[in-house]
Amino acid sequence: MANREQWGTRAGFILAAIGSAVGLGNIWRFPYVAYENGGGAFFLPYLFALLTAGIPLLIMEFTLGHKYRGSAPLSYARLSKKTEWIGWWQVAISFVISTYYAVIIAWALAYTYFAVNQRWGDAPGDFLMGDFLQRVDIVSGGAPGDFGSIVGGVFFPLILVWVVTLAVLFKGVKRGIEVANRIFIPLLVVMFLLIVIRALTLEGAMTGLDAFFKPNWSEIMSPSVWVAAYGQIFFSLSIAFAIMITYSSYLPKKSDINNNAFITGFSNSSFELLAGIGVFAALGFMANASGVAVSEVASAGIGLAFVVFPEIINTFPGMNGFFGVLFFGSLVLAGLSSLISITETFISAIQDKFHVSRTKAVAFGGGLAAIISIMFATQGGLFFLDAADYFINQFGIALAGLISVIAVAWFVKELPGLQEHANRVSDFKTGLWWKVCLGVVTPVVLGYMAIQNTIENFTNNYEGYPTSFLLYSGWFVAIGAIIVGFIFSAMKWQKGDLNVPSDSTEKGAE
Ligand code: ALA
Repeated sequence: MANREQWGTRAGFILAAIGSAVGLGNIWRFPYVAYENGGGAFFLPYLFALLTAGIPLLIMEFTLGHKYRGSAPLSYARLSKKTEWIGWWQVAISFVISTYYAVIIAWALAYTYFAVNQRWGDAPGDFLMGDFLQRVDIVSGGAPGDFGSIVGGVFFPLILVWVVTLAVLFKGVKRGIEVANRIFIPLLVVMFLLIVIRALTLEGAMTGLDAFFKPNWSEIMSPSVWVAAYGQIFFSLSIAFAIMITYSSYLPKKSDINNNAFITGFSNSSFELLAGIGVFAALGFMANASGVAVSEVASAGIGLAFVVFPEIINTFPGMNGFFGVLFFGSLVLAGLSSLISITETFISAIQDKFHVSRTKAVAFGGGLAAIISIMFATQGGLFFLDAADYFINQFGIALAGLISVIAVAWFVKELPGLQEHANRVSDFKTGLWWKVCLGVVTPVVLGYMAIQNTIENFTNNYEGYPTSFLLYSGWFVAIGAIIVGFIFSAMKWQKGDLNVPSDSTEKGAE
């Protein structure tokens, strides 16, 4: 096989891994998930999930990519032909995520522009659903499952998002992904720090932080809090959707795997905490200004970023446009660096399996994802997006994480081999705890989560959506990803493809 592309520097790889991890999940998802699941008390399950599943799995994925030097399907196939489908399943999960993730970045891009003069007016909630998204049920009396027409205000920014993403990917690993992250990540940190500092100096900020950090200990025994903590860690760390295997397959032979995993994991969580502090300080200010409790202004998901934040920007004492642009611009940068990594998983898989050039893989894989993403830019797109996001998280990422650790630890029994490889190239060595976390703790907790989730979703329709709608826009998507996994793994590799590169098992010079 032709020589695999490589990162230019260690910092380039770490920045790209952090760029992948820090995304929409950190800025809008984490603050609310933490708040809803016990506030300060959430940090215990969160930390437990990070240390027993997040970082150990990150080490496992970094090692798989580094040792087997392939995209997720090729790395799993080199581990054992029987596990190749897991790699394709994870790639399919990434493909689905890329199609709607790009649309949320497109909203953020539009809102960066709207922020300049607060185009959303005095009622950002009505503006979002009516004027901006033109939701099919509100504007034309439709229902979930109806597409309606394409919404220009979402469609055009979406094109721009894909143009930037694919342009970076066309350029390759070193000249594209690495360079983009070298620009995006420092810029993101500076922009976000400015917002956090400003938020902390607003009146009422401390009330918000108090609400965020005050532990509600009664919540901690609830299984759903633990499920939320694991879900957050997986999505946020970009694990179990093929990304980290792909990125580490571009590492040079001499790379410290364990250290890189700890740096990536802790940087991601630090950014998450920073986002929580910034968001809740701003919510405290907003609650204070409107004379209500923080619980009344906090809101989930889309509501937090695209309704509550515009309200906060409206209430800001000065430089409203500037801080609005900083906030939505941060979402765009965080989202783009993650979207690049999500899309790279299938570009790399296509290249490995079909032996086509990067240009062709980007044009075909990226082009297909871009075309499919247009369905989320329609008047009914929000409902499809909501269902796809929920199901691919619950029955995609979390389940793929579970199956991958079971396969590696119990089925092919390769944890000792992977640990030996990682320890050989790393300064800091992992011990027995790593195998116990992956072989016992994580499968038990994730297995329990999977059963809980399945029962919950069979007994209650998510968000009360009609069953027929959930069948094709949720269940079908999640199960379809597994089927895609099996179909692609049934296709033949060329002779020699599955030979494990011999040099990757030795510690050599760069
Ligand atoms: N890890 C990325 C995020 O948090 C996908 O958004």
